Amino acid sequence: MKTYLVTGAAGFIGANYLKYMLAKYDDVRIVVLDALTYAGNLGTIASDIDEERCFFVKGDICDRDLADRLFGEYKFDYIVNFAAESHVDRSIENPQLFLMTNILGTQNLLDAARRAWVTGRDEHGYPVWRKGVRFHQVSTDEVYGSLGAEGFFTEETPLCPHSPYSASKTSADMFVMAYHDTYKMPVTITRCSNNYGPYHFPEKLIPLIIKNILEGKKLPVYGDGSNVRDWLYVEDHCKAIDMVVRKGVEGEVYNVGGHNEETNLEIVKLTIATVHRLMTEKPEYREVLKKKEKNANGEISIDWINNDLITFVKDRLGHDQRYAIDPTKITEALGWYPETKFEVGIVKTIEWYLTHQDWVQEVTSGDYQGYYDRMYGKG
Ligand code: NAD
Ligand code: TYD
Repeated sequence: MKTYLVTGAAGFIGANYLKYMLAKYDDVRIVVLDALTYAGNLGTIASDIDEERCFFVKGDICDRDLADRLFGEYKFDYIVNFAAESHVDRSIENPQLFLMTNILGTQNLLDAARRAWVTGRDEHGYPVWRKGVRFHQVSTDEVYGSLGAEGFFTEETPLCPHSPYSASKTSADMFVMAYHDTYKMPVTITRCSNNYGPYHFPEKLIPLIIKNILEGKKLPVYGDGSNVRDWLYVEDHCKAIDMVVRKGVEGEVYNVGGHNEETNLEIVKLTIATVHRLMTEKPEYREVLKKKEKNANGEISIDWINNDLITFVKDRLGHDQRYAIDPTKITEALGWYPETKFEVGIVKTIEWYLTHQDWVQEVTSGDYQGYYDRMYGKG
């Protein structure tokens, strides 16, 4: 039985990882530590918390006493650190919060692990670590900066972050590696591209576009929509993290990417076309639409679900042009590859949102509208 501390598992990727791990293994015990910020929703994982294999603790990764108490109580084998402020646009609004959570929070967990896992010193003065423990940092390809039209990020690409978000994630990665280099702490890092899938908070591109279509709203595309992202289905990412935590080499970084490069404009058009197609194939999905105008056949009309919904809005400050990952290392070392083609993943994702509108209502019932109005103007 291995015991995991999984931070940030009430958020998008962490929740998917928690569900993936509980479904895959009988012999794991998972303690979730999550502060339940606007991005965290206890309802997402409520059915997973059984106080036997899965426990929930509400708290901040920056809290030293809490981290020490949890290490004492649960004797963790692994830490998988998802907890973070994760939205670039919010980091432009409030950089300091990103520094607090993403850098100081990570460093606090590293120190708590050091206090709990070091069993002595070797003859050179280096700490000796409890056997089999591992600190895994969930990072991002955004630490590498931005690409031009050609090339891919490899693990050797120099770190060159541009946004306050990516600067904070880069700094956290450097602390993780500093603990490895200085104290020989057993660590690994994964750097992945943009994820999409169920439980994605609708402030990020794909879930925001789906939500806006269903509400009959305009679809905001930053700048001219030519920025490129490399989309990865979230379950493929969860699988990669599991492989790296269990089989990855200590002190190594693994890039995780979907080979699914697309411009933002293409992603938005594809999402529009897929919603339209699904609603043509299964007219019952139209019930989810807020706009229920009827066509000549007496059905809810979907004629208006087309590219005219797109509106080009002010570009993001310092907007990175292109991200694209070369995942050769993790494929050759661990046999991982992105199994889910985008055409398949986007259908799964849209169908999930069509059938989980209660979840969308739940997570957007707080300050979501206030944030939306500040970002995109009223309406
Ligand atoms: P998310 O914003 O959906 O969830 C973050 C979670 O962390 C939330 O549950 C939130 O409550 C929790 N949290 C925030 N501050 C906390 C604190 N101080 N203490 C404890 N919990 C706190 O994020 P996500 O999209 O699931 O991303 C998870 C991780 O993956 C992040 O580290 C992010 O940088 C990284 N990542 C995400 C993507 C992506 O496409 N979403 C891509 C690459 C890397
Ligand atoms: P996002 O989902 O915020 O992820 P990231 O900034 O971490 O890549 O944005 C993905 C891309 O979509 C990015 O280039 C910004 C763009 N974008 C829009 O064009 N409109 C939007 O409303 C949002 C949220 C993002």
